[in-house]
Amino acid sequence: MSDYLLEMQGITKSFSGVKALDGIDLRVRSGECVGLCGENGAGKSTMMKVLSAVYPYGTWGGTILWEGQELRAGSIRETEAAGIVIIHQELMLVPQLTVAENIFLGREPRTKSGLIDFDRMNIDAQKLLSDLRMGHINVMLPVSHYAGGEQQLIEIAKALSKNAKLLILDEPTSSLTKSETAILLRLVKDLKSRGTACVYISHKLEEIKEIADSVTVIRDGRFVGEAPIAQLAIPDIIRMMVGRDMSNLFPREPHPIGDVVLQAIGITCLDIDNPTRKRVNNVSFSLRQGEILGIAGLVGAGRTELVSAIFGAYPGQHSGELRLEGKTLRIRSPREAVRHGICMVPEDRKLHGIVPGLGVGHNITLSVLDDFTQSGLIDENREFSTIGTAIDRLRIKTASPLLAIANLSGGNQQKAVISKMLEPKPRVLILDEPTRGVDVGAKYEIYKLMFALVKEGMSIIMVFSELPEVLGISDRVLVIGEGELRGDFINDETLTQERILTAAITPLRQAA
Ligand SMILES: Nc1ncnc2c1ncn2[C@@H]1O[C@H](COP(=O)(O)OP(=O)(O)OP(=O)(O)O)[C@@H](O)[C@H]1O
Ligand SMILES: [Mg+2]
Repeated sequence: MSDYLLEMQGITKSFSGVKALDGIDLRVRSGECVGLCGENGAGKSTMMKVLSAVYPYGTWGGTILWEGQELRAGSIRETEAAGIVIIHQELMLVPQLTVAENIFLGREPRTKSGLIDFDRMNIDAQKLLSDLRMGHINVMLPVSHYAGGEQQLIEIAKALSKNAKLLILDEPTSSLTKSETAILLRLVKDLKSRGTACVYISHKLEEIKEIADSVTVIRDGRFVGEAPIAQLAIPDIIRMMVGRDMSNLFPREPHPIGDVVLQAIGITCLDIDNPTRKRVNNVSFSLRQGEILGIAGLVGAGRTELVSAIFGAYPGQHSGELRLEGKTLRIRSPREAVRHGICMVPEDRKLHGIVPGLGVGHNITLSVLDDFTQSGLIDENREFSTIGTAIDRLRIKTASPLLAIANLSGGNQQKAVISKMLEPKPRVLILDEPTRGVDVGAKYEIYKLMFALVKEGMSIIMVFSELPEVLGISDRVLVIGEGELRGDFINDETLTQERILTAAITPLRQAA
């Protein structure tokens, strides 16, 4: 018998003639966690869809050995029955159903008369969550009641309830807070000690370092290498992923900073469900021409609410004043913001950023379609040359500009959303965690692009996911904590992660 629980050998997969996987090997021992690394579009998610039979046997090439036997599964049901459970990169919960209904979807416990046994279902679901130290989640509430991070943990609980021998986690932490990430990593470690194997996909290489026993790296659909984690430092993994050394992760470039362009005065946002609660409380700041203003703070501090309010996209009640070059603006919708030269790349690309069924190219030109339209006709040549330039500029990996954007890898969808918001050539560009789920190489390209844009005179407000990123890129840093502005710092040598964190957690009264 082989040492391996799973051996995938020479896997190939094409989409309309384009090879996404070109002979990839992946091996997992029982109870082992394998980190699967590679740039956006390398083929990680596709590889896992082959394994879990999202792409059934016969639609790909190569061999899968599972517990020493060839696996020829025709559906996810079959792979789940064999003990292979996948948690996809994009969440698959049904928002209107309760937490318990989602966990037991398609395998609800029944009463003797064949009806769904809701009492049992709720009790079992609550127990499952309590065992996973998520007892605070109420299984009788609709999933939509919970934020992205908690939904991700619910999805994981659901997967675990299926008695997995191998759990596949495809970027599970991209929408989790630091503490939720810690819960998740602890869960995976618990599982490992109980003998469950896992394949863990993440662009956060510190997580791979912490959790994986070995690492497999793929690039452009090809196998690059496999090694025990003890033999690899993070820069080694990066080198394998991108095929070259990347010593400088933050390509900061000097650029001139001019006069104040935008002023936000007393921005306040009320909670949608509970208008007595302020998500953003009286925040004022100014932004200069050519400046990169970083917004730091813990998840849930009100950063997204603040930037959405400026962009006219905050759904609840809000107040405050916005001045562009001294003139007061009234912005009631994103459309008006765009007209005034303010564009935003939203945090949640699935909800606000893209039209999934539409081609990559048309998604990019969606916000400027009027520019190509004369007396009702679209000048397609001009549109396509614009699309071509945009795709090259951010090196968006797509078989064709006509491919529906939903088929792009996660990180490449993100790049397309950024391109879309650059087309109206804004004066002020707001980016809400644009590098989430984006690989190291593409992050570098996004930063490079930001510096090129500020050199052309654009001003950028960016909500950052990670503190090293805030310090590596911003000219100035605003720190938001519990909806309040708790710091406004020039980013010089004296600004450290500790100072930002301390500001974020220190209420104003105390600081004074
Ligand atoms: N249904 C599809 N039709 C056409 N091309 C596809 C389809 N699904 C995936 N691809 C292509 O296959 C390649 C691999 O994509 P995949 O989603 O596996 O990448 P990934 O490594 O998971 O990237 P990311 O880190 O961005 O999630 C990409 O070039 C993608 O555009
Ligand atoms: Mg992926």
